[in-house]
Amino acid sequence: MFNSLKTTLITGGAGFIGSSLIDQLLEENPHYAIINLDNFDTFYSKEIKQANIRHHLNYPNYQLLTIDINDAVAMNEAFKEIDIDCIVHLAAKAGVRPSIQDPQSYFQTNVMGTLNLLELAKQKKIKKFVFASSSSVYGKNPNVPWRESDLDLEPISPYAASKIAAEKVCQTYAHLYGLDITALRFFTVYGPKQRPDLAIHKFFKLAMNNQPIPFFGDGSTRRDYTYVADIVQGIKGAMNFKNNGFEVFNLGNHQTVSLKELVDAIGNVLGKEILLDKQPKQAGDVDQTYADIDKAMSKLGYSPKTKLIDGLSLFIKYIITKK
Ligand SMILES: NC(=O)c1ccc[n+]([C@@H]2O[C@H](COP(=O)([O-])OP(=O)(O)OC[C@H]3O[C@@H](n4cnc5c(N)ncnc54)[C@H](O)[C@@H]3O)[C@@H](O)[C@H]2O)c1
Repeated sequence: MFNSLKTTLITGGAGFIGSSLIDQLLEENPHYAIINLDNFDTFYSKEIKQANIRHHLNYPNYQLLTIDINDAVAMNEAFKEIDIDCIVHLAAKAGVRPSIQDPQSYFQTNVMGTLNLLELAKQKKIKKFVFASSSSVYGKNPNVPWRESDLDLEPISPYAASKIAAEKVCQTYAHLYGLDITALRFFTVYGPKQRPDLAIHKFFKLAMNNQPIPFFGDGSTRRDYTYVADIVQGIKGAMNFKNNGFEVFNLGNHQTVSLKELVDAIGNVLGKEILLDKQPKQAGDVDQTYADIDKAMSKLGYSPKTKLIDGLSLFIKYIITKK
């Protein structure tokens, strides 16, 4: 399927979504040529990221470059002699709440780092650029399910604002230099290798140790949880999508689940009562996320298949086997 693409550069390929994408690409074609560019950012443990990619290092055409996307000089030097056909740009400072404490570094990496990659794409005339955006760009917009055509973006965290800014830089480069750029707005991704800071991972770990889970607000906030294999399928659709311009897609599950329902589902999967540590609603957290996915289904062939209860069961299997 991807044989027409010679070499794909994946930034952030040691992280949760990036390493899951690489797992899938290498499983489909062990000779797939992949360059993973990742600086093993300290947001969470380097050891987790090394474990995510250890098996990739055995593949003949896989290469790891430990470079910071903020270092344009190092990137230009690294790619001087290498032709790249496609960039999947996933590297970012992720996490909504920490962005409130450190907005500068979020803007530096998520906006300026993206600009550096777009410059690389321009100089090297790269055929396809896929950018990881986020559902958080919709922010407080009350008109759910959210559609890509809705221009009412109301971010409530520096992270969300940095993703809007980066989308706009992508749009500008598509216009000025004729690049083919697809931005994907991921909706709360979960599954094996999920980042340890994200709710589902944190909740399972605490509940398994009979500790209370932090329960913010009254449990009515809602999220459109999307299983990582479904996101990977959507990214692959975007890699093959030919557009010659800039286009945005939601990649969600089109199912919205309250915090209370999530906690009940985790209790069911673990077969135990979950203890709650009730806390006030957190700054930066939106009330609800809910994706309209018609556009991705019709243009990218995206078709999320994993029900929350099945995805949670797969996640717990992963946690248990990793122990
Ligand atoms: N996980 C989600 O639910 C979710 C939702 C919406 C959007 N996203 C976006 O998807 C992308 C991947 O998210 P993830 O959950 O896999 O996060 P992750 O933190 O697991 O992966 C990001 C990777 O980028 C790398 N990185 C960070 N800064 C870098 C830099 N300056 N130079 C090079 N590499 C750098 C990190 O080391 C990490 O391996 C991110 O852009 C994130 O904002 C994720």
